[in-house]
Amino acid sequence: MSIKVIGTGSALPKKQVTNQDLEKLVETSDEWIRERTGISSRYISTGETLASLTADACERALENAGRRAEDIELLLVATCSPEREIPCVACQVQSAIGADCAAAYDLNAACSGFLFALNTAYAYVEAGIYQNALVAGGEVLSKIVDWTDRGTCILFGDGAGAVVVEKCEQGGVLGFVQHSDGARGDVLRCDSRALKNPYVDRPMETEFVLMDGRQVFAFAVRQVPAVIQEVLDQTGIKVEDVDLFVLHQANQRIIEGIAKKLKADLDRFPVNLDRVGNMSSAAIPVLLDELNRQGRLKPGMKLVLSGFGAGLTYGACVIEW
Ligand code: UT7
Repeated sequence: MSIKVIGTGSALPKKQVTNQDLEKLVETSDEWIRERTGISSRYISTGETLASLTADACERALENAGRRAEDIELLLVATCSPEREIPCVACQVQSAIGADCAAAYDLNAACSGFLFALNTAYAYVEAGIYQNALVAGGEVLSKIVDWTDRGTCILFGDGAGAVVVEKCEQGGVLGFVQHSDGARGDVLRCDSRALKNPYVDRPMETEFVLMDGRQVFAFAVRQVPAVIQEVLDQTGIKVEDVDLFVLHQANQRIIEGIAKKLKADLDRFPVNLDRVGNMSSAAIPVLLDELNRQGRLKPGMKLVLSGFGAGLTYGACVIEW
């Protein structure tokens, strides 16, 4: 028994911000950003909220799947940029779309979040607890990025993606692996609250994303090929049998480094980061939705999904579409 993706959806904010727009904010250039990251533009919320973007993505996924919100049993939202601590985004989305019967909660594994949420849905269905799930990844990273820090503000974008999954007897998720390395968590972090109570008052270092880009880069190029190989070994599938590698969209050079290590042609690594930037947990489901709507995902195709990021967290799964 497994789960099958039966519908996809995504939503991006209206405002597109180009590299040229960022040249007016920080000391950078379109050329530097494109050469070092592959990114040309990203979408930034100017009113859309995490809940509104994620609800739109979920509604589109339900429509694409031909399912009703009220029939969903589990609603998981992966995010690391919630505007509210409580209630969770999943409960806000539940209310917005009318998924009244679903158990709804958030999950934070940063850029691996969507993948870990998908694996969680798989485990629930495998255990016989639920028959279906709506799994989303959504971010408004523009709200936690320091817009004066050229090392980070050029990378990130806002958006949301979602999939509807259902129990299936054949195909679907064939296997997954997920790992965490909390000891190295400081290389990418964001503190959201000062220690403040009647007994202590300690100011925060910063409330924005802090990143050692080179360390994250090296981690991704080392660990992602290894974790992909691990899941391929687990499922008995060879690199050459994989039709598409749907990777977290962080940096074009990271994707090229991973493809090279796996000895796989780059044309099997679809990319949308040039247009949308790094959307953390929204990256994989938005890319999946774009591929689905472009008709590039055919029944029987083998896909590898792989996420990696803050935590540090990383993982991969194999899906027979
Ligand atoms: O989802 C996971 C989230 N994080 C990531 O994926 C980040 C992974 N890391 C990266 O993508 C890359 O490390 C970056 C794109 C962040 C940086 O690229 P890099 O090739 O590692 O550059 P660097 O940090 O080594 O900096 C090289 C130079 C430095 O100047 P000096 O010291 O050589 O004079 C930086 O100050 O580039 C400078 N620099 C910039 N210049 C123009 C850094 N950011 C910028 C910028 N525009 N935006």
